[in-house]
Amino acid sequence: MTQGPIWITGASSGIGRALALRFARDGRQVIASARSTDALADLARENGNIDAWPLDVTDAAACEKAVAAIEAAHGPLALAVLNAGTHKSTPATDFRAADIRALVDINLMGTVNALAPLLAKRTKHIAVVASVAGYSGLPTAAGYGATKAALINMCEALKPECDALGIKLQLVDPGFVKTPLTDKNDFPMPFIMNVEDAVEALVRGLASDRFEIVFPRRFALILKFLRLLPYRLYFPLVRKATGK
Ligand SMILES: NC(=O)c1ccc[n+]([C@@H]2O[C@H](COP(=O)([O-])OP(=O)(O)OC[C@H]3O[C@@H](n4cnc5c(N)ncnc54)[C@H](OP(=O)(O)O)[C@@H]3O)[C@@H](O)[C@H]2O)c1
Repeated sequence: MTQGPIWITGASSGIGRALALRFARDGRQVIASARSTDALADLARENGNIDAWPLDVTDAAACEKAVAAIEAAHGPLALAVLNAGTHKSTPATDFRAADIRALVDINLMGTVNALAPLLAKRTKHIAVVASVAGYSGLPTAAGYGATKAALINMCEALKPECDALGIKLQLVDPGFVKTPLTDKNDFPMPFIMNVEDAVEALVRGLASDRFEIVFPRRFALILKFLRLLPYRLYFPLVRKATGK
């Protein structure tokens, strides 16, 4: 991977936090962003290679300013991992526009807000964290899945153009990883990984030339197979697997 500073959004917790520490232990300069200033300050205290950079990704102007200020302070970014995201169950029995809007604002528009200034600056390497939940619709995840499907489609659309611009764009599609986000789930989570193993797979993927980085692989393959099925087979299998 190219040397130089690494910017990670959603770095106060879970995958982003573990990734920040992993790179920092390797001697990389990491700029860690999220909204929780206290959690970021704790993270920066844990490793001197981490610079806490509080940011709400739903604020487009703040994202643009942050990219400019980070590069002014640390030099051109070698890698940006756009990982900030959240989940809320949005079942048909409690389907609220405000919940969907919040998911779109953070997961989709938050990523777009950070991506726009990075593309404008031709940042050499950008990774967007979506989810296997974006492959096809899954019960109670209508809002979350829609935002992640949008990210997958957006990255597929941008990839050839980024290639032409000399930008390495990668799409990260995790399955279940044990983090504060999934600790809230009250349903079985097949093939769930611990965050350290997930981050090792992510780092290996970032060092590769693969467009899509998936982990755990077996779960991603099962979901990829499901999305190829005709709906008359897809829905009964989903019902069997989720009980919904
Ligand atoms: N864990 C999984 O199984 C799994 C599976 C597939 C995909 N993912 C994706 O992986 C990413 C990380 O998830 P995680 O499991 O590590 O979740 P997490 O522990 O809840 O971490 C989410 C991070 O996003 C940050 N964030 C949320 N809203 C933000 C905002 N408006 N501005 C800036 N930062 C914001 C949070 O920090 P603050 O609250 O401090 O802002 C936190 O640092 C997410 O995009 C998630 O959708 C996770």
